[in-house]
Amino acid sequence: RVLDAEGNVLVPGIVDCHIHNREPGLEYKEDWESATRAAAAGGVTTVVGMPNTDPVIDRPDHLELKFERGEASAHVDFQSYAVVTSENLDLIPEIDETGALGFKIFLGSTVGDVPPPNDGEILEAMERIGETGKRLGFHEENGEIIEHYTKRFKADGRNEPIDHSHSRPVIAEQEAVERMITFAEETDAKIHMFHVSSGSAAEAVARGKDQGVDVTAETTPHYLWFTEDVMHEKGNVARVQPPIRDAEERETLWDVGIDQGAIDCIATDHAPHTPTEKKVDDPFGNTWDAISGFVGLETEIPVMLSFVDQGRLTLEEWVRRHSTRPAQVWGMYPQKGSLQVGTDADFTIVDPDREWTLADRTELHSKNCVTPFEGETFTGKAIATVVRGDVVAEDGTVVGESGYGTRVDVD
Ligand code: NCD
Ligand code: ZN
Ligand code: ZN
Repeated sequence: RVLDAEGNVLVPGIVDCHIHNREPGLEYKEDWESATRAAAAGGVTTVVGMPNTDPVIDRPDHLELKFERGEASAHVDFQSYAVVTSENLDLIPEIDETGALGFKIFLGSTVGDVPPPNDGEILEAMERIGETGKRLGFHEENGEIIEHYTKRFKADGRNEPIDHSHSRPVIAEQEAVERMITFAEETDAKIHMFHVSSGSAAEAVARGKDQGVDVTAETTPHYLWFTEDVMHEKGNVARVQPPIRDAEERETLWDVGIDQGAIDCIATDHAPHTPTEKKVDDPFGNTWDAISGFVGLETEIPVMLSFVDQGRLTLEEWVRRHSTRPAQVWGMYPQKGSLQVGTDADFTIVDPDREWTLADRTELHSKNCVTPFEGETFTGKAIATVVRGDVVAEDGTVVGESGYGTRVDVD
């Protein structure tokens, strides 16, 4: 098969290490087939699923189930994290042997309500995971701070979507990042901060790196693109955890995170929910019951290429953060994140000049497509997605087969 790539750019396959594929158990929102269909259409060749499914991925058999479902239906290559709770510290070696890419702890309450372990258990988890050689990532928000402000705001009768955002203040994120860096310094663990939303948290990551702690971090296209003004425009549609921050925090996230390098990876936090759960018909009502999260697999490359077009970062810096670094951080390099593996390589062809407006969310391939990026215009789009030498999508149309995607083997 010959692809016409003239005028376009061929880059190593884009790797998204933070998606909620929702299978097993929450298939009404999304499943492996639909999530990886969206990935293929969007130009993403490898995805890593989050463990807040039903059951949660906290035991070897649950992880095996997640892998089996992926093998049966994925369009692109995949992996999965396993969650650590107070209940499964003893299972860490076995979960490692079952092939998990890495581990995750939810510090603050978020979708799925996986309870956080206590501080002693987190230290022990770091020691045990350290023995496996793998990395431990965090949903990096201090749950006690959030719980306090949520209670307080509810009692005060505050009920705007922006109030929900403010109930999860920047300090809750910054403090969690700093505390986990302190713990990692003590235990020599390799740690990662998922979905860093604020400049203040990026500065905390930078300080940790300066101290010599092996801390890596990720941010998402939405924290780089929007400011909290989007909450006034789109209400609960734009609601996400951690929340989208003010302009000053966003600027520091760009400066310290992107320009100075504290942020290693770009990932989506692709988090599909039904329009009813997102309250799309009443986006400014029912703030405390509306759910957090939205899809991103088909807008992440257009968003990042738009930044390249605007001169905010170079094409090379984009590719490093969206392919090479994530593969290195999670131990998949050079199998992923590189063009060095010859005919078996994954690559994405992008047209950096293609203008595209996401006019209607139903153009997207997920089962549920609510996103605050609906209506936005981008410059740059993926026009072909190639996984291990086979074309899986061309010009936004999926041409590969469900079940072609396979688990990325890591030891
Ligand atoms: C995520 C989800 O829906 O699973 N939602 C979100 O707002 N980010 C959970 C998470 O990543 O914390
Ligand atoms: Zn999270
Ligand atoms: Zn997430």
